[in-house]
Amino acid sequence: MLNTKKLGLVLGAALLAAPFAASAADAPAAFNQCKACHKVEAGKHGVGPSLFGVYGAKAGHAEGYKYSDNHVKSGMVWDDANLGKYLADPKATIPGNKMAFAGLKKPEDVAAVVAYLKTLK
Ligand code: HEC
Repeated sequence: MLNTKKLGLVLGAALLAAPFAASAADAPAAFNQCKACHKVEAGKHGVGPSLFGVYGAKAGHAEGYKYSDNHVKSGMVWDDANLGKYLADPKATIPGNKMAFAGLKKPEDVAAVVAYLKTLK
């Protein structure tokens, strides 16, 4: 059972931690759609690979994640142009890759997400 004193400590710790959490780059709203499958901490994989350090890396960059062959063979380098294409239409950009996501429809969402990915390093 959580008594009032313990609850107070937990809440206090959460409040103290909050300003630090918020000082890391804030994810744009469009990134909420990615969170179902991607984590941003290094080495933490979900349905999709961790997106830590993905900007500027080659397709299949995350250690310990099992990518599809088509994804790795694409030889894609994740710069602005390639991320822009992939996030707008993953299936057309890398046919046969296993990211089950329809794509970001709005160019401003793509730009915001790419800018955010750059900060994950
Ligand atoms: C339904 C789950 C799912 C969603 C939603 C999703 N992804 Fe993915 N993503 C994946 C999977 C799975 C892969 C690995 C693809 C493969 O191996 O074929 C992947 C791969 C990637 C890669 C390539 C990583 C690398 O190391 O090559 C990037 C970048 C990426 N996703 C970004 C995003 C972003 C940004 C969003 C949101 C706009 C998003 N994904 C939404 C599942 C998802």
